Amino acid sequence: MDRPADGYRAPFAEFYDQQFASNERDDVDFYVTLARERGNPVLELACGTGRVYLELLRAGIDADGIDVSEDALAVLRENAAEADADLAPSVRRADMADFAVDREYELLICPFNAFQHLLTVDEQESALECVHDALAPGGQFVFDVFVPGFDVICETYGEWIERSVEYRGEPCVFRTRTSVTDEVEQQFTVENELRDSNDALVFSESQRLTMLPKREVQLLARSSSFADWQVTGDFGDEPLADGDSTQVWTFEKGS
Ligand SMILES: C[S@@+](CC[C@H](N)C(=O)[O-])C[C@H]1O[C@@H](n2cnc3c(N)ncnc32)[C@H](O)[C@@H]1O
Repeated sequence: MDRPADGYRAPFAEFYDQQFASNERDDVDFYVTLARERGNPVLELACGTGRVYLELLRAGIDADGIDVSEDALAVLRENAAEADADLAPSVRRADMADFAVDREYELLICPFNAFQHLLTVDEQESALECVHDALAPGGQFVFDVFVPGFDVICETYGEWIERSVEYRGEPCVFRTRTSVTDEVEQQFTVENELRDSNDALVFSESQRLTMLPKREVQLLARSSSFADWQVTGDFGDEPLADGDSTQVWTFEKGS
């Protein structure tokens, strides 16, 4: 598959790491517990700067990671080296829409909306095929994507949201805006911008993603080679229900 994909670039990868690594979502505990229960080895797709991946290593899990961004992986390796010389990340650059592995995994995960970076049905199906091939018989693919909320889209899309942050020890202003960029394809763009205290631009970047409502994921599951699938809401045990903001999908490979 020939497609341009470079993921998070350097200044944003570092910023993402600072802002989100410390920002506790329920997902880190969820994925670490899951990995403990499902057994080794585990592969994280789009592992980014290691927000979840490094916690898997700390929990003693035999985990590998791929991400399309070399810059994000560089931050991940730096974080690991700074935190603990014994943490040995096993990560490499690869596109989750087109990757192969040299061992079988019990569990593949793709946390924090990363699957929404795949913009077309071709890319989504290709990724699911690669995932299926990478799993051992009976293995699972678990990923989370947000529930496209009409209220959130109506109230916040198109508006710049600003907040004061510290970056490399300096006070800065971070602005972010999410806008629908293609209604037919259900794609949206997230623009991010950081300015220093003199209003000089530190970086700006944007990412295009796709909405993934429950029925679309269901159809992808049906067209895939997976034997079974289910979806829960907000990292709990209950089936996804109206009002939940996160879809947590489990695709099971037949044994
Ligand atoms: C929201 S971050 C999630 C990172 C990490 N999973 C976490 O939970 O913090 C999205 C990541 O997806 C990566 N990415 C985007 N498109 C990708 C692709 N096609 N293949 C692999 N990684 C991709 C980006 O480089 C970025 O690191």
